[in-house]
Amino acid sequence: MVATVVAHLALAAPSIVPLPLSVQTMAGEFVLDSKVTLAPDKTSRPAALWTKKYLEPALGWELPIGKGSRTIAFQKVSKNWTLGDEGYRVAVTPTGVKIQAKTDAGMFYGVQSLRQLLPTNILRNSAQSEKWTIPACTIEDSPRFGWRGSHLDVARHFMPKSFVLKFIDQLAFHKMNRFHWHLTDDQGWRIEIKKYPRLTQVGAWRKDSTITYSPRTMTGKPHGGFYTQEDIREVVAYAAARHITVVPEIEMPGHAQAAIAAYPELGNAKEPLEVWTNWGVTTHVFNVNDGTINFLKDVLTEVMALFPSKFIHVGGDECPKDEWKASPEAQARMKSLGLKDEHELQSWFIRQFDAFLTEKGRRLIGWSEILEGGLAPGAALMVWLGDDGALQAVRSGHDVVMAQGTTYYDAYQSGDRTREPHAIGGNTDLEKAYNYEPIRPGMTPEQATHVLGVQCQLWSEYFPDPMKVEYSAFPRLSAMSEIGWTKQSQRNFADFESRMKAAHYSRLDAMDINYRGRGKSYPYPLASPAK
Ligand code: ACM
Repeated sequence: MVATVVAHLALAAPSIVPLPLSVQTMAGEFVLDSKVTLAPDKTSRPAALWTKKYLEPALGWELPIGKGSRTIAFQKVSKNWTLGDEGYRVAVTPTGVKIQAKTDAGMFYGVQSLRQLLPTNILRNSAQSEKWTIPACTIEDSPRFGWRGSHLDVARHFMPKSFVLKFIDQLAFHKMNRFHWHLTDDQGWRIEIKKYPRLTQVGAWRKDSTITYSPRTMTGKPHGGFYTQEDIREVVAYAAARHITVVPEIEMPGHAQAAIAAYPELGNAKEPLEVWTNWGVTTHVFNVNDGTINFLKDVLTEVMALFPSKFIHVGGDECPKDEWKASPEAQARMKSLGLKDEHELQSWFIRQFDAFLTEKGRRLIGWSEILEGGLAPGAALMVWLGDDGALQAVRSGHDVVMAQGTTYYDAYQSGDRTREPHAIGGNTDLEKAYNYEPIRPGMTPEQATHVLGVQCQLWSEYFPDPMKVEYSAFPRLSAMSEIGWTKQSQRNFADFESRMKAAHYSRLDAMDINYRGRGKSYPYPLASPAK
């Protein structure tokens, strides 16, 4: 017993992010040399193929699949399995490695941990000269939440497909399983819709872009881009292969100016609109006419054909009611439906799509404001505002995904703006980001079961390119992975930070992620340059 304890203390636990449920280290190591083979059971071949794909580039040799004296074995287990659908067990001894799981997803997460058990250079994509050892250990692991995600806004700035795929690889590496793709907004419509080609012919392009809001500076250059349906299918399949569901967001009834610019009949304004070049909230929103409702049903029909996600996000946030108050058609609609105000009109609007999506076997999710005037029956709430909405939703039996201010990774990462590139505001440093807790005070254990999970938001007003997305996302996204995966009682910022420093920053380096603190020269102007 004493010997085990001493050995345990002497052996540093591998620095895995997100922190597993349990890691037991033992003396010794497994040497991964060219004699090792991969030994999947009948249903675990995908995990062996992932292992080849992930490890071979850095190893510089092929890992054969087949029997051998020293193997990395993959075994599906269902009997007496206690680690859940996404859980896994990795057992490493000097003579072999065994990964067990109940499902392909669990097996995939076991492979992700294996990547983190190997020397960091395994993450590089060219052959490395290295002695490849894996410390003897047993990991048993299973996630806290079923929804562990990140949002990415590609409307304010278009992000190339190649970057979206790289970002999805990072979600997979961090055992995250939802990619919330914010595809439409005032400043751009980014998804091809066959029935309405002007959405991308017109709505995907704007004349200029804001650089800073105050003082106001502009790029003076056009900006745009969109994903074809073929691109979308590729991204969805790429994510699905990595056990990530892509949740598309089509904004309504606000954040719709790009669509209205393409099809003016969808709006309330008499004058034509352009795709917006400002950031913020515009008063121009969809009208409430039958034509607009039908247009959005057509759009969602194409969206559902592209995205198998059960949840379809319809936005619903920040819809100023000015135009509806001034519009005779909107007022007539309110009156004919017996609605008391424009908030109820917004609720009616959203309910059309709740019914529509439900009838097609899907579920609606929308931002906090869809509570206004009453939540549609099957709808889930994505909580970006205060706890009151979250509590109201879970108390009435609605599911929620937590996405509050502290999960907005477009905020500054330090209070010192003389050392930070321009960001939207606030200060969510790594510690503050890490300490966000999705189960809010006042939720009973039963109500807490309605918290599907948590995600970070990457709004791209101040992300002109992928490098800036990565700068803002990382290392906070590593913290988010732990918020979603690791039991609350095991979360500890000092421990997280020590694992980041011991290994995880180097891993991000090896994968060429432009995380904050990487020490590379940074091409963006500082928020407040020292005078
Ligand atoms: C939001 O930040 N408007 C959801």
